Amino acid sequence: MCCIRFYWSLPLNIRRALNSESSSNQRITFKNVHKTAKQLTEDKLQSGILKELPPVYPNGWIPVLESTELLPKSTKTVTAIGRKFCVFRGSDEKAYILDAYCPHLGAELAAGGKVLNNCIECPFHGWQFDGQNGQCSAIPYADKIPEVAKIKSWKSCEKNGFIFVWYHADNEEPTWEMPSVSNVESGLWPYRGRTEHEVHCHIQEIPENGADIAHLHMIHSKSVFSGLQTSFIDTLLDHLKHNWEPRGWEPDEERPHVAKVKLIQRASMFGVNLTPFKLTINIEQIGPATVHLHLESRYGCGILLQCIMTESPLSHRIIHLLYTESSFGQFPADMVILSEARMLDRDIAVWNNKRFLRRPVLVREDKLITRFRRWYSQFYSEHSPTLKEIRENTLEW
Ligand code: FES
Ligand SMILES: [Fe+2]
Repeated sequence: MCCIRFYWSLPLNIRRALNSESSSNQRITFKNVHKTAKQLTEDKLQSGILKELPPVYPNGWIPVLESTELLPKSTKTVTAIGRKFCVFRGSDEKAYILDAYCPHLGAELAAGGKVLNNCIECPFHGWQFDGQNGQCSAIPYADKIPEVAKIKSWKSCEKNGFIFVWYHADNEEPTWEMPSVSNVESGLWPYRGRTEHEVHCHIQEIPENGADIAHLHMIHSKSVFSGLQTSFIDTLLDHLKHNWEPRGWEPDEERPHVAKVKLIQRASMFGVNLTPFKLTINIEQIGPATVHLHLESRYGCGILLQCIMTESPLSHRIIHLLYTESSFGQFPADMVILSEARMLDRDIAVWNNKRFLRRPVLVREDKLITRFRRWYSQFYSEHSPTLKEIRENTLEW
């Protein structure tokens, strides 16, 4: 009994690799779920996406790390938006982001570099660079520091357990801020669990899901417990259905980089409503790569924080962190995490294998998809890189 109580007090941490079994074991037939990233890329290229895809790196606050991954005075090399960054935590606790390689002779700063105050010291010859502006602040064996001794520094912010870099293909300064969730930042709401999914598609296809009402019934109505392979119980739980009631999808009038939608989830079994499982989700898409899902249930309130870590044009990790008010309890929180993980598995099985269509054939009921795409296009600018350009200019693809 003690063990069970202990288990239920631990937050879940569910990780899904790109070709994990998770998508295929839910009695939903998805083909080709076990391909490698290379095979998926080849398939997508053959399907003709080069002409179809929007630019691959949107402008805005792009998540690069979870806060817990960057300990005090530690360093990390991070690949995001097709670049390598040196991320380090200064003595002032702030997360600083610089280019990854030292401008002196090219050492990788985070690979052995030391944090001194708010600077990083290169592990090769000891040049020091200021995290704030990238200026070289010391060369241990030289009398004079040349003005050109500088590394590119990137604007960063840390909110709600994530570290973000400001990326803009046309070098515009930040035009909006990532909001703080006070119950999370103050520590009032305990951390309840986490999911991490690898995904292989264009970044825009992930948030487009929120405006795609028609897929809810097709993909998400089947029980989250479907396919657990426990014979009788499994067969019984197959009769559990999720009914989704979407309410609108609207850009926020005051914050143009935000769009909102409300979803009400009701569970039923043999046609009978299971009221304890009703969940109301107020969803805010904030910029191109972050979503806050505000949860209301009979157990209390909570928030699922979603961030898309974009590593290269089609490779991302989607992270969800769950925080709830204390009264919510760990067991209902585990159910939220488990459900979220299994529902996302289903979307990912489609995204990994689909082709992005610039001009899809839509019906009137799909109109929110068109609105979403118009809204999301604000995150691209004149020099936003396309997959075609990246393939021509780098050996990466
Ligand atoms: S390579 Fe960094 S100080 Fe020489
Ligand atoms: Fe979905």
